Amino acid sequence: MSDLSRTLKESWTLVEARQDRLASQFYARMFLADPQLRDLFPVQMDESRSRLLASIITAIQNIDDPDRLDDYLHGLGRDHRKYHATPEHYELFGRAILQSLRDLAEDQWCDEYDDAWREAYGIIAGKMQEAAQAQTDPAIWHAEVVSHERRGRDVAVFTCRPMEPLPYKAGQHVSIECGYHPRQWRPYSVANAPRRDGLMEFHVRATGAGWVSGALVRRLKPGDMLRLASPMGAMTVNRRSTRDIVCVAGGTGLAPIKAIVQELTRFNRTRWVHVFVGARNEEGLYDLADLVRLSARYPWLSVVPACSNTRRFAGERGQISDVVVRYGPWRGNEFFVSGPPLMVKATLHRLAEQQVPADRIKYEGIE
Ligand SMILES: Cc1cc2nc3c(=O)[nH]c(=O)nc-3n(C[C@H](O)[C@H](O)[C@H](O)COP(=O)(O)OP(=O)(O)OC[C@H]3O[C@@H](n4cnc5c(N)ncnc54)[C@H](O)[C@@H]3O)c2cc1C
Ligand code: HEM
Repeated sequence: MSDLSRTLKESWTLVEARQDRLASQFYARMFLADPQLRDLFPVQMDESRSRLLASIITAIQNIDDPDRLDDYLHGLGRDHRKYHATPEHYELFGRAILQSLRDLAEDQWCDEYDDAWREAYGIIAGKMQEAAQAQTDPAIWHAEVVSHERRGRDVAVFTCRPMEPLPYKAGQHVSIECGYHPRQWRPYSVANAPRRDGLMEFHVRATGAGWVSGALVRRLKPGDMLRLASPMGAMTVNRRSTRDIVCVAGGTGLAPIKAIVQELTRFNRTRWVHVFVGARNEEGLYDLADLVRLSARYPWLSVVPACSNTRRFAGERGQISDVVVRYGPWRGNEFFVSGPPLMVKATLHRLAEQQVPADRIKYEGIE
């Protein structure tokens, strides 16, 4: 661990338990310094607070891992063009974060912490701006909804077509804003590999109190317009690898896995691909028919569905993280894991127990 990383982590422990206060102080400071910035943020801001802070923490935790950090921050910087973030905004953000940290930690804060945060923020903001400036694609794509299908009570599968080509890789996600909740952008994984006609598929689950997901599942209809931002995420296929693949999907975490499998159908002949797809009950296996069709067509593809909360299901039962291990050992394989954060965490834990090296696992927690 570098000195910088050690100092950041040490100083973070001073404020970690008071993240809510840190976030409200930070936003208050920022909006006071530039009241126009308030218009960029949604009216209701609880979620923005936690997401922004969470991303800074993620960046700081990965400060010693430049590859991972670059992927993440370059994506975030390209994506942030949708907010018209300027170098002055970045500077203001940096000052507001530092001042809020100082205020909250009071006399426990010291110059060494100050220097470390200034350096870390400079790296983070620098990487975001560098990627934004290098980009020649549009900041936002307008897309028309082409189809919308309800799959059970909570899930919808819809397709849309951007007006301009939107280049992305199978496994990536884009932020979406719909007319029903302006200024509320949420990331959703694209559920198909890039197509010539540009059509993009999404799988969305309406979460209990969710604003955007509720609208995308219950209100969206063909003809509606959406706004999409730059693709993000590094959970993509390495075509040069010869390793067999295991995909583990929970709920709508199936979306990027389906895109990856479709991508593989375009070139793969030799790599075995095992897809494990988990849900609480059969209704949650909302796209199984399509997966089964694919596995009948491609001899290298196998699909194992599993349900955790129902006794009636004829297939595998239990948490998907346990089911995967039952089918192992998987030491030579590479992995794609996608689903709710707890499911992803449990799977990573089980794979670590099986001595699967961490650098063979790509994952995305979708919440
Ligand atoms: C990289 C990435 C990819 C994603 N891909 C997809 C995808 O393909 N399909 C998809 O459906 N979602 C996906 N998500 C989640 C999506 O971005 C939204 O977070 C989700 O739809 C909830 O947004 P909302 O506006 O409806 O809820 P919010 O208004 O943001 O949240 C409302 C309340 O619901 C809670 N909540 C939010 N999400 C969940 C959840 N999953 N389970 C339980 N409670 C929750 C929040 O804590 C909050 O209390 C992805 C997230 C990430 C980070
Ligand atoms: C290092 C600096 C920054 C980091 C790490 C960061 C990170 C994030 C993250 C992770 C999100 C939530 C996901 C998303 O919507 O993309 C977010 C949202 C947002 N960011 Fe930033 N950001 C930074 C700087 C800025 C700047 C300079 C602006 C100024 C315009 C800005 C404006 C916004 C807005 C308006 C949102 C939306 C909030 C919401 O919809 O809930 N960010 N930021």
